[in-house]
Amino acid sequence: MIIANWKANGNLSSNLAWHKEFVEIFIDNNFSDIGIAPSNIHFTQLQELFKNLNLKIGLQDIDFNGGARTGSISPSMASDAGCDFTLIGHSERRDLFKEDNTVIKAKIHAAINHQINPILCIGESEECSKAGKTRDFLKNQLITALSEIDVKDQVVIAYEPIWAIGSGNTPTPKDINSIHEFIKDVVQSSSANNTEPKVLYGGSVNNKNAEEFFNEKSIDGALVGGASLSANQFADIVKIYRKVKIK
Ligand code: PGA
Repeated sequence: MIIANWKANGNLSSNLAWHKEFVEIFIDNNFSDIGIAPSNIHFTQLQELFKNLNLKIGLQDIDFNGGARTGSISPSMASDAGCDFTLIGHSERRDLFKEDNTVIKAKIHAAINHQINPILCIGESEECSKAGKTRDFLKNQLITALSEIDVKDQVVIAYEPIWAIGSGNTPTPKDINSIHEFIKDVVQSSSANNTEPKVLYGGSVNNKNAEEFFNEKSIDGALVGGASLSANQFADIVKIYRKVKIK
């Protein structure tokens, strides 16, 4: 699965142009392995543009509750609007909006309870990586966010080292693969029904490096920020993913 995270980018006319360019590339109209998370304000526009196609439209975040929570999107609103998936715990939410593991856990619960597939984002800082503490840190993020959750196929993990996001620096594909194996083990051994989750990699994925990543067995797809803003480049990444993973 390849997910575009548009963050706070895009406008009505650039989204229209993106859609036109993108659908012209995929003449077979098969978009089932692709998701787009536009900004909240463009969610309905994207849904309308892709309405007869099987591409998934999600949100970049949802709140865990509704009511007197100014500025929020409640889980029931998201589900009522037909939201397929939501990112939860992106490092920008954790850093800029001070979301901690308790809030993230509540959001995962809320998403599952409203039939929205959560993509839990985890990742360590450069400092943590240099100190050799990545695995302990990720394990803690996973265990606290997923405890008491019956992890089924709908929970996807996105491993995004903070130092790789938007920087052009990435871990080696082998290192990512080994972290993904670790993530799968942690989730599988702590889940009630032994579910092994799909794990996406995110952090400076582009059409030049995607193939090296997808060649690794435990990298199940990508969460793409910057490179997803170009329809052409994002389409290239999807094509590479299909060439390598769907044989
Ligand atoms: P990037 O962002 O691809 O621009 O590094 C990824 C993300 O933040 O999800």
